[in-house]
This record gives sequence, C-alpha cells and structure tokens, in this order.
Amino acid sequence: MTARQPLALGNWKMNGDMVANEQLMSGLLESSAGLLSAGGLQAGFAVPAPYLFQAAVRLKGTGFLWGAQDCSDQPKGAFTGEVSTAMLQDFEVNFCLVGHSERRARHQETDAQIAAKLQALLSANILPVLCVGESLAQREAGQAAEVVCGQVKAALKGLSADQLTRLAVAYEPIWAIGTGKTASADDAQAMHAQIRGALAGLHPQVANQVRILYGGSVKASNSQELFAQPDIDGGLVGGASLDMADMSGILQAAHQRAGRLGLL
Ligand code: PGA
Repeated sequence: MTARQPLALGNWKMNGDMVANEQLMSGLLESSAGLLSAGGLQAGFAVPAPYLFQAAVRLKGTGFLWGAQDCSDQPKGAFTGEVSTAMLQDFEVNFCLVGHSERRARHQETDAQIAAKLQALLSANILPVLCVGESLAQREAGQAAEVVCGQVKAALKGLSADQLTRLAVAYEPIWAIGTGKTASADDAQAMHAQIRGALAGLHPQVANQVRILYGGSVKASNSQELFAQPDIDGGLVGGASLDMADMSGILQAAHQRAGRLGLL
C-alpha cells in the first residue's frame, strides 16, 4: 500500500457551543493527542465559523488541525454572510471542506462555484477537502461512479499536478450521511479506486499521493475495517465526531493504519 499519511477529520456541522466545544476538545486532547505526536497521522475538526477562534486558541501547538466547513470564492466585498479565505487565514485554519452534499443540496452550490472555492483555498495555502458523493437514486440506477468521478473532474480540471497534491478528496455517499448506513468497506474501496483513477486521468504521476477519505456514518466500530482498505486514507466524520469516545476510537483506527504503513 502507498504510504499516504492517514487523515481523520471531524465535521461538527451546525453543532456545539463554547462549553460543549471545550469539553470535546479537551477530552480528545487528553485521550488522543499522544497518537499524533509521532507525526504518522493527521487529525482535526471542521468547526462552525464563529468557533474558529476558540478552536485555534485551544488546538494550537497540540498537533490537532482545525478547519472550516465552507468558504467564499470571492476575496472580499458585498457578500453578506460569507467568509473569505483571508479571514480563515487570520485564524490559521489548516483545512476547509468544499462542496459538502449538504451545501450542494441546500445552497444549490454548482461545480463551477466549488471549483472556484477550491482555487481560492489553494491560493491561500489552506488544504481543500473536496466532498463528492452520489444519491441513493443515482446508486440504484448504476450511475454512482459516473456521478462521483464527474464531480471530481469538474472540481479539479485545470489544476496543476502540484496543486493536486495539496488537496484531499472525501467520498461521502449521500445515502450514508447521518443515516447510520455505511457503505460496505468493499463498496467504499471500489469507489475510492475509481476516484483515484479519475485523479490519474488528470495527473497520473501524482494520483497516488492524494488522500481520499471516506465519510458517511463512520463510527469507532466500523472505522477499523474501512481504514484497512488500500485506498481509504482516513475519514470525514460527522455525528460520531461529537462523541469523545467514538472519535477517540476512530483516531485509534487511523493510528493503526499509520502503523501498518510504516509511518510511526
Ligand atoms: P455522518 O456525516 O458521519 O454523520 O454520516 C458525515 C459528513 O457529512 O461529513
């Protein structure tokens, strides 16, 4: 297996408050910061924008990353409610989700907007985590790979090989998000391999370096099996990332993967 550094990210979505965030972060620091010290894996949280300052203060110097859940494709100006990449830089944000299915669906984000946000993040030196995934109807119609690889290509076409190495992809089948249904490890691996193939179609020489995370009802109990797959380089975790014990277990599984890859 190629030794890509495992990456396990929590996506808090629109959850948390000052007190709960502090409890969650301090609990995870206590249980899991040691796993990060050898540098074999990366882990962090995508927090709601108002709590970026809290996350930056709490996590700086601990090894954990902090990130945003979305950003504007515009540098500044009359864009009420939006947050620019320069603002994210002010809080030393390490990564930012782009194109999460909840934003594609609720905010009608288009492939073109997602590509523009991704460019803005790359220019700001913030790791974009491009989220892609098919609906249940698309899967049942046998269109899953076509839809997912189409989203990947639409967001990434035109990037240089170097830029491709400075992002991660998260495969999140929509039917598995927040539903308790996870793609089987085999199905997830098959899609990850297809995504890697789509990346190879863009820049074959670096496709093997890009991390592809799985998301959709990842829990401590299924993370071991998922993270044992050759092309599942970690997870993007929603609901379970709000539970300290569950997230600690997921970080353990990512740590074990790092060990198997000889990264510790
Ligand atoms: P879930 O969410 O783990 O709650 O299914 C994953 C995500 O939407 O990133």
